[in-house]
Amino acid sequence: MTSTQSTAPADLRVGVIGVGQMGADHVTRISTRTKGARVSVVTDYLRDKAEEVPGQVPGCRVVDSPEELIAAEDVDAVLIASPGRFHKDQTIACIEHGKPVLCEKPLAMNPEDAYAVVQAEQASGKALVSLGFMRRFDAGYADLKDAITSGELGQISIVNCKHRNAHTLPGFVDSMMVYDSAVHEIDAIHYFLEEPISAVQAVLPTPGPRADEGQHDPMLLLFRTASGIIVTDELYVNTASGYEVRTEVVGSAGIATIGQDSGRVTTHLDGGRWGGSIPEDFRPRFVDAYDREVQAWVSAIADGTMIAERSATAWDGYLAAAACEAAEQALTTTGFVEVTTAERP
Ligand SMILES: NC(=O)c1ccc[n+]([C@@H]2O[C@H](COP(=O)([O-])OP(=O)(O)OC[C@H]3O[C@@H](n4cnc5c(N)ncnc54)[C@H](O)[C@@H]3O)[C@@H](O)[C@H]2O)c1
Repeated sequence: MTSTQSTAPADLRVGVIGVGQMGADHVTRISTRTKGARVSVVTDYLRDKAEEVPGQVPGCRVVDSPEELIAAEDVDAVLIASPGRFHKDQTIACIEHGKPVLCEKPLAMNPEDAYAVVQAEQASGKALVSLGFMRRFDAGYADLKDAITSGELGQISIVNCKHRNAHTLPGFVDSMMVYDSAVHEIDAIHYFLEEPISAVQAVLPTPGPRADEGQHDPMLLLFRTASGIIVTDELYVNTASGYEVRTEVVGSAGIATIGQDSGRVTTHLDGGRWGGSIPEDFRPRFVDAYDREVQAWVSAIADGTMIAERSATAWDGYLAAAACEAAEQALTTTGFVEVTTAERP
């Protein structure tokens, strides 16, 4: 009798830090829809929350702290989904342990801290940091990016973005519209155009009737890139409707639009109307993008490239932090605010 040995590579053992809304979603994604990976260890500031995971993911264990998780023998790679203020230190700890990390956005809360991560990665000599700007993996985004890169749209002059939410929680102030909403368009600008944002201006109309006290909703941000492309970003976070993200790229050879998908269109026989539906929030809208992002991360680690081709890097996180800081200043400044960035190490 001959013995048979499995030649299949062992699954990547992923440790997940923070199992709130995003972290729990990623645990489910890795456990049910990602090839070549499993969740081996979780941790959360709220221990009870973490203790729920092994019930759903057999073989997964809970540890007390992010530091213990990052150092654990049975963690090959780390997914950080804790609040943004912890990302810098947790990402640097992953770099110090030589472990690939997918950090949810933001990389850090300010450009200086984001730059510290860039420098730590550079000093380690290994590219280890992927940043969770998942829109890069959305099929529409990837298609639009390829149309821009191939030259199909010609020379790009203007990009028009729209980012709308049904509701936000009370206290979602103007700066959060920059750091939590516009940050996605800011990264999209870097992804699509492959050049940094050089200046940003806020244009604040009279607030709509659903805006919180002191909140400017809707608002418009204008970005100018290094080569002079203008990007408009309409942010409207209390539409009372649903989640919509649209992008239109205006070029010399073509004008391309994504995000207008209507899905199923129904003619309603009870009152002279037809139409589709709008997703409630970002999770159904971008579920495929999150799935592709995490699969691409796992596959890149398996093939040794470590960072997937379309993924945002630590440098993208730094550029986003610098642009957000300028956009926040622009909220209370007349005219354009310059974005200052350090040299890429
Ligand atoms: N890419 C996206 O589209 C997207 C969408 C939503 C959230 N996010 C990002 O994901 C991150 C998490 O957001 P969320 O909505 O899941 O928040 P959340 O509050 O639902 O979850 C955060 C979890 O982290 C835990 N936690 C707090 N401090 C911790 C620490 N020091 N170490 C470990 N765990 C800690 C909390 O107890 C909580 O369970 C944020 O950075 C957010 O910006 C990204």
